[in-house]
Amino acid sequence: MSTELEWSKLSFGYIPTDYNVRCYYRDGKWGEIEVSQSETIELHMAATALHYGQEVFEGLKAFRRKDGKIGIFRLEENARRIIESAKGLMMEPVPEELFVEMVKKVVKLNERFVPPYGSGASLYIRPLEIGISAQVGVKPAKEYMFLILVSPVGPYFKEGFKPTNICITRRFDRVAPKGTGRWKVGGNYAASLEAGELAHSLGYSAVLYLDPKEKKYLDECGPANFFAIKNGRYITPASESILPSITNKSFMQLAKDMGIEVECRHIPVEELSEIQEAAACGTAAVASPIGEIDDLDTDHKYVISKDGNPGPVTTALYNKLRAIQLGEEEDIHGWNTVLD
Ligand SMILES: Cc1ncc(COP(=O)(O)O)c(C=O)c1O
Repeated sequence: MSTELEWSKLSFGYIPTDYNVRCYYRDGKWGEIEVSQSETIELHMAATALHYGQEVFEGLKAFRRKDGKIGIFRLEENARRIIESAKGLMMEPVPEELFVEMVKKVVKLNERFVPPYGSGASLYIRPLEIGISAQVGVKPAKEYMFLILVSPVGPYFKEGFKPTNICITRRFDRVAPKGTGRWKVGGNYAASLEAGELAHSLGYSAVLYLDPKEKKYLDECGPANFFAIKNGRYITPASESILPSITNKSFMQLAKDMGIEVECRHIPVEELSEIQEAAACGTAAVASPIGEIDDLDTDHKYVISKDGNPGPVTTALYNKLRAIQLGEEEDIHGWNTVLD
């Protein structure tokens, strides 16, 4: 049975599906996988997730491919990243095989919500782990819940693949220099809300954060990594305070495959005046081209796209990655997990 949603009109929001899957860590071991139809969870009021932010999550997508099958993009990479995030918050890591099994199961169970090939929409997969045992002192929980929900999401670029403007502000930091920025933890996002709202209220699509120690180098771009094309080379920030984006990792590989040199290094803000293309990259949009970067503190405007269009390298990388996800091009790196 397929479902009758207007796929191309979906936004990046929550749409109820049929099932979610859950697993609990208790008495020193992970239990059986549970399938649930409930959209709520019952939680002890003293759970560490609620008081001390013991929460880590992931975001990945399943696509209906050209051959009609369902493919999940870079499943193992996401499994490995949530392990690192969990370790960072002293949480019990979800074993990679359990993560993989549960993602496949929840996608299969909600197969009718995987949007059709060609709609531009996909099934967003949101795994999350929380500390659930009651604790009043600041200590890691002894018990954990791992849950995966899914929701169909629409094409990111409803008006087409067009550049948007972003801004730099030194008024806010998302994370501390040796803090939690390299992990996908809820608190980082809470800390980014005020800056994000400011940027949106001024008409920008995101904030380009600078490194929180010196505020000299580019860090990342709201909930996405940043890359630029400078004299034919792919440049992207090396930083301890950014999330290692799986999309960025994929682009770096594709760039190398295309014979483009890749530099992962500190990028001083002023270098923005020497780049020819720039984009934010992440699971949600794949690549989101940047038109102009306005520094709100110095009033300097870095105009990246002179003609209002995405640059050729950004476009080529975006098209290539999308084609691999949709099974239109050969997946030479084995990035897709195709379900039977
Ligand atoms: C802070 C942050 N940086 C970068 C990314 C992009 O990572 P990925 O490409 O793995 O989705 C995300 C989104 O997942 C994010 O939340």
